[in-house]
Amino acid sequence: IEKEKIRNFSIVAHVDHGKSTLADRLLELTGVIKPGAEQSQVLDQLQVERERGITVKAVTASLNYTYENETYLLNLIDTPGHVDFSNEVVRSITACQGVILLVDANEGVQAQTVAVHSLAKRNNLTIIPTLNKVDLPRANPDRVKTQLNSLFHIEPETVLSVSAKKGWGVKELLEAVIKRIPPPPVSSDSHFRAHIIDTWHDKYRGVLCLAYIHSGNIQIGQSVRWMSDSKQQTVKYLALLRPKEEPIDEATAGQVVMVGCGPKGGGSVGDQLVSIEFPTTEINSSTTPVRHMVYAGVFSADKSQHTLLGEAIKKLALNDSAVSVKPDSSPALGQGWRVGFLGLLHLDVFTQRLLQEYKAEAILTAPSVPYKIKVKGAKLIKHYKGDEIIITNPLQLPDPHNIAEYYEPFVKGTIITPVEYIGAVTTLCIDRRGSPLPSSVVDENNTMMQFILPLSEIVVDFHDTLKSITAGFASFDYEDYGFHKSVLVRMDILLNGTLVEELSTIVHVSRLEYSARRLTEKLKEMIPRQMVQIAIQAVVSGKVYSRETIKAYRKDVTAKLYGGDVTRRKKLLKQQAEGKKKMRSVANIKIPRNTFIDVLKR
Ligand code: GTP
Repeated sequence: IEKEKIRNFSIVAHVDHGKSTLADRLLELTGVIKPGAEQSQVLDQLQVERERGITVKAVTASLNYTYENETYLLNLIDTPGHVDFSNEVVRSITACQGVILLVDANEGVQAQTVAVHSLAKRNNLTIIPTLNKVDLPRANPDRVKTQLNSLFHIEPETVLSVSAKKGWGVKELLEAVIKRIPPPPVSSDSHFRAHIIDTWHDKYRGVLCLAYIHSGNIQIGQSVRWMSDSKQQTVKYLALLRPKEEPIDEATAGQVVMVGCGPKGGGSVGDQLVSIEFPTTEINSSTTPVRHMVYAGVFSADKSQHTLLGEAIKKLALNDSAVSVKPDSSPALGQGWRVGFLGLLHLDVFTQRLLQEYKAEAILTAPSVPYKIKVKGAKLIKHYKGDEIIITNPLQLPDPHNIAEYYEPFVKGTIITPVEYIGAVTTLCIDRRGSPLPSSVVDENNTMMQFILPLSEIVVDFHDTLKSITAGFASFDYEDYGFHKSVLVRMDILLNGTLVEELSTIVHVSRLEYSARRLTEKLKEMIPRQMVQIAIQAVVSGKVYSRETIKAYRKDVTAKLYGGDVTRRKKLLKQQAEGKKKMRSVANIKIPRNTFIDVLKR
């Protein structure tokens, strides 16, 4: 197929605006699935694929469509479409020349619409603005067209309208994909080069890759080389994904195909596969390292599940190259892992997939963000090159005397809200140490507000609070805004004078008193009364910022069974002993396990 007949595109949208439903319609219209078949959301194959013993995440579908007597190959590349998955979106977007920007004609432009629009702009993609759900009685296409115009300068006459549910306007949309999106800017006469946008593992065939071919041709049996390690291999499997595999012998520049080099084959996201003649000097290694924004401790619900959870995490991490996994252990929670995520949604999806795909139940500690510090004498710090250190655990903070500067991660938050909540939203954001940027009119009833916010202030409950103060109407999304200078301290918790490592946190100086009070109060609620009096102190560099006391209490569960039945008494004492096993003991104080998981949550 010549490249002029290829279109590579993706659908991007705010959550629930109908991406999967539209993809189903496109698949029907191109004959991949039968109309009305019980196969809805074909691109969400996780369940299906699990039954076959492999896991596929972002699936592409190569569709044939005949328009004005010419047959086109339309590659629909599925993208998660949220900034949390930016590395996934970015790698799949590098294979696209255009996007369908889908907006619910009833709900209108939402925060995530703004984020995906700017992502498409940054990548110079052709944007096909499309209103969905126009069948809804409350749909208001004119209002949404006004919103698109005032926020993105999109001309109303370029906006298409569809109902993905009813199939209205979908044919016109496919034709717009052909007419408006340019063919891939590639050349088929030079050496073969492809870059890997996804990988998954197949029990029998080894690693399978989704590859976008930048130049040249590829054939079954051809010798190829991985750029990362120069390893030479032979192409064993080649297929179009429709989205079912359709084996092919040959593929050419501009196509998005599945490639596999057999059970010993390699392939990782971001790597490049080239023909053995390809001059190494011409390669610009384009993999940018992933930046993890949120870390959480992951532990098994009970010890017997530890191995199962470990295996599940390992397998999932292979499919989700964006997580980082390191072993972690805590006296309270036992052996576990410290896992880095791109954002909160990513964290959610990861734990959900652990449960759904691997039946592994995980307990997560409250998420925290990484901090960066610059040390005064770099030599003072062991194991680190240079003078900048990323801190993912408060206990890694060196002595404050050795720290020259602190940095914390910030985000640019976008909030779309009805105008009557502007005051409440502003208060919330200022309260979370946010600084406002100029706001924009969405339409006469809605406004788009933007703030620069510390990531640490939004990781725990920002979204829920925003929803509750705006009666559910505001939408929120954010993008990375890098590390910025800050004034931070490490706050420790002492129980009767003994440090409890797992409860140390890093806090901004302006939040010191507040955090100290909140932590000690919460601990007072969570730690049960015991034989000794317990002093809970929040301390920074030896200075106490808050203190609570739990009075002593003698708890004898058998007291009311005086005389009585001996076996019953023994049973009660045994139960009490087992309850204690789930506790972590610090300076003779028993702390329930869930304290460590819940105390940092708001
Ligand atoms: P995520 O995958 O969760 O991001 O959602 P999505 O954007 O893929 O949305 P999805 O296709 O799951 O649709 C969300 C809801 O909107 C579903 O209940 C659909 O049935 C409904 N929906 C999608 N398109 C239309 C439409 O054209 N009209 C109406 N009335 N409902 C629609």
